[in-house]
Amino acid sequence: MVALLLALALLSSCGDMFVEEDLFQRPEAKRCSDCHAEVFKEWEKSRHAVAWKSEKFRLESENYTKNKCLSCHAPHQVDPQIKPLLRAEFKEDGVSCVACHFKEETKAMHGPHKVWSPPHPSRQDLSYSKSSFCAGCHQETYKEWHITKAQTSCQDCHMPSLGNKRLVQKFPFEYFHSKKTRHDHSFPAGIAKPEDIKVELEQAETIRLKITNVGVPHNLPTADQGDPKLYIVVEALFENGETSRFVKVLSYQAKNALVYGVPTYIDLPWREFKALKVSLQRRLSWKEERERILEVAF
Ligand code: HEC
Ligand code: HEC
Ligand code: HEC
Ligand code: HEC
Ligand code: HEC
Repeated sequence: MVALLLALALLSSCGDMFVEEDLFQRPEAKRCSDCHAEVFKEWEKSRHAVAWKSEKFRLESENYTKNKCLSCHAPHQVDPQIKPLLRAEFKEDGVSCVACHFKEETKAMHGPHKVWSPPHPSRQDLSYSKSSFCAGCHQETYKEWHITKAQTSCQDCHMPSLGNKRLVQKFPFEYFHSKKTRHDHSFPAGIAKPEDIKVELEQAETIRLKITNVGVPHNLPTADQGDPKLYIVVEALFENGETSRFVKVLSYQAKNALVYGVPTYIDLPWREFKALKVSLQRRLSWKEERERILEVAF
């Protein structure tokens, strides 16, 4: 009883009917961490958090002077399938909490759940769980995904569920709210599993590889402006004991990425071999090192 009264007293000391006015003034992302500490910690590690301040973006946007480049890297408001406008404040927050959740029309935070949130009004908005939410910026990837008719959404793979957790970490308020599904705000790129890519060998005049993306419902690699790469490295051993190496690089820029469900054929420069090792490696746009996806021997 005493605890409840104390809690109520604390709640009502929170100003004007609990509402925290500055939350409507488009604060910086750090402000949201006062209550949403865990979501903030994940987002802070994400590429969205560095979309504006990354050195590569600064250079390629010619020190933020190329206007057509700016809006997706510091958006004002994200709406499904609409390319966003450029934000005026806190651009260094990149693709920020306020941009993705605050709507000018309702002056409320929109999100996937039905919540009671005294510090700021919230609206349940089912568009948050759909791929179209990401489409205004990830335009090419969205188009690729759409034609695969995949049942899984961008969020299923790039904002995976973390199970039921509290959305706020602020004593004592967190205990007034039930646990709800949380989604990983570090927006992991993930990595294809070996079974996502089928590698077959066909032997005719020369030898050729038949490679099919059967598991990732967009191109591999996929990009709008970044330059991720997929390396196909083939090592051959011949009867006479000699060896040879062949490398093919696939990218969005070279327009030779693996399309979901459509085989890509790669002619190898040899007529015969004793043993062949094929390995697939990927390099994310913002990473130096390559990571291995699979290795098969023939
Ligand atoms: C329609 C929205 C949109 C516009 C406009 C846009 N970008 Fe991007 N940009 C993205 C998205 C989405 C990504 C995420 C990776 C990908 O899909 O390529 C990205 C990623 C990048 C990256 C890769 C980051 C890294 O560290 O590798 C760079 C660099 C970049 N953009 C530069 C630019 C430049 C330069 C322009 C203007 C010519 C521009 N962007 C315009 C949406 C956009
Ligand atoms: C003073 C505490 C506090 C601050 C600061 C705060 N929130 Fe919240 N927020 C809440 C509470 C409480 C809930 C409801 C939690 C629940 O029901 O589990 C909530 C819920 C939400 C939801 C969930 C809506 C849904 O439908 O799923 C979103 C999105 C959200 N807040 C965004 C933000 C953003 C963005 C900021 C920063 C601009 C922010 N919040 C700052 C307390 C806060
Ligand atoms: C306002 C534009 C915008 C929206 C909306 C957006 N993104 Fe992004 N996203 C970007 C930009 C820009 C980058 C690249 C940032 C960088 O690397 O510098 C990016 C990067 C990413 C990456 C990292 C890719 C990598 O190379 O590691 C993933 C994954 C991602 N976004 C998923 C999503 C998902 C899922 C959604 C929808 C829930 C979404 N994004 C909505 C602009 C956006
Ligand atoms: C690129 C857009 C984007 C950014 C940036 C973003 N969110 Fe979200 N957020 C989403 C989407 C989409 C969902 C719903 C995911 C789903 O339902 O699959 C979500 C869900 C939530 C929820 C409900 C609980 C959950 O995990 O599903 C809260 C609370 C929330 N976000 C707060 C924040 C805060 C605070 C920040 C900044 C630290 C932030 N978000 C940054 C897109 C974003
Ligand atoms: C079934 C799971 C799945 C779905 C659905 C999915 N992706 Fe991916 N995505 C992946 C995997 C796995 C990778 C890593 C590929 C690799 O090995 O490099 C990836 C990579 C990416 C990358 C990083 C660039 C690259 O090629 O590595 C971006 C950006 C991206 N996805 C955006 C999206 C968007 C936007 C959507 C929705 C339109 C989406 N993804 C739907 C699984 C998925």
